[in-house]
Amino acid sequence: MFEPDGIAPDKEKIAALLADESRQEELFQQADSVRRRYVGDAVHLRGLIEFSNICRNNCMYCGIRCGNKQVCRYRMAEEEVVATACRAADMGFKTIVLQSGEDIYYTSDRMCRIIEAIKKRDVAVTLSIGEREYKEYKAFRDAGADRYLMRIETTDKDLYHRLDPGMSWQHRYECLLMIRELGYELGSGIMVGLPGQSIESIAADLLFLKDLRIDMAGIGPFIPHPQTPLAKEKGGTLELSLRTMAVMRLLLPDINIPATTAMESLHPDGRIKALRAGANVVMPNVTEGEYRKLYELYPGKAGADETPLHSRSIIGEKIKSIGRTIGTGYGSRRRTDVAARS
Ligand code: 5AD
Repeated sequence: MFEPDGIAPDKEKIAALLADESRQEELFQQADSVRRRYVGDAVHLRGLIEFSNICRNNCMYCGIRCGNKQVCRYRMAEEEVVATACRAADMGFKTIVLQSGEDIYYTSDRMCRIIEAIKKRDVAVTLSIGEREYKEYKAFRDAGADRYLMRIETTDKDLYHRLDPGMSWQHRYECLLMIRELGYELGSGIMVGLPGQSIESIAADLLFLKDLRIDMAGIGPFIPHPQTPLAKEKGGTLELSLRTMAVMRLLLPDINIPATTAMESLHPDGRIKALRAGANVVMPNVTEGEYRKLYELYPGKAGADETPLHSRSIIGEKIKSIGRTIGTGYGSRRRTDVAARS
């Protein structure tokens, strides 16, 4: 079905693989074996802190869009973010992911203080706080941030502009280029099953992510949220999301690929299925208390009523039960291509 080390970046072939439900098991097995060969059996855990659900954007799909007046908004104090991160470090997490809505209360100075405090611990820090200016991205990097996640969501520009009113696809792309240029490990990704998104468009997304030379790809199904304009839409399936993720593994054999929470939300074993179809990273939620339920990007978010320790132990057991190990290092992307050797 494929060449031994992946597949050619050919849009038609990719679209055919994405569409082929009858051969998906074969695809998953191939992605699993490429994953094992390139990044090994270790599953890297990232502790995810959702530190603010305040957002200036109004994305049609997202539960915390600014137009959703039913959300109870919260914003964690600097010390609270740092304390949560330290507890996650105490639990053994080697990467802390700081995610929020696009909340400009967290100025460059505030974010830098948080990053510097967390970097006193032996952890990698990943930011996922959206579009900022170059000087801010630079300040965060200088403060010690190692990685940045920002999904492009879709490369269909018309679709993007319909779904993300007031935002610019080009601007988002330019932010991703700045982040890469500043030497962050770069994570991006897409949603699968957006209304009006075709298979060909998903194939183009995967090629875009390859060209962007990302280090991490987050791929998850779109799940309609009842308090958004897309409430009545169908949403993406777990199967197509898994096929998309598996093809991503074949296109970029040595990157980090998380088994996403959205996958787990569609099926109780969604993340395990993902780990057996190309994924090598899991991002357990370490947000504490009431905040967890309030960061509702989509309904039925897996783990919303668990505690951090509980989330960590459930996923740890599941990982071991499928014969995989838990990564003990930072789990940075290790390039195996020419760029790594030169
Ligand atoms: N369903 C699935 N994923 C969503 N995201 C936002 N809203 C939804 C939804 N309704 C994803 C976006 C965003 C990430 C943080 O969460 O891809 O980049």
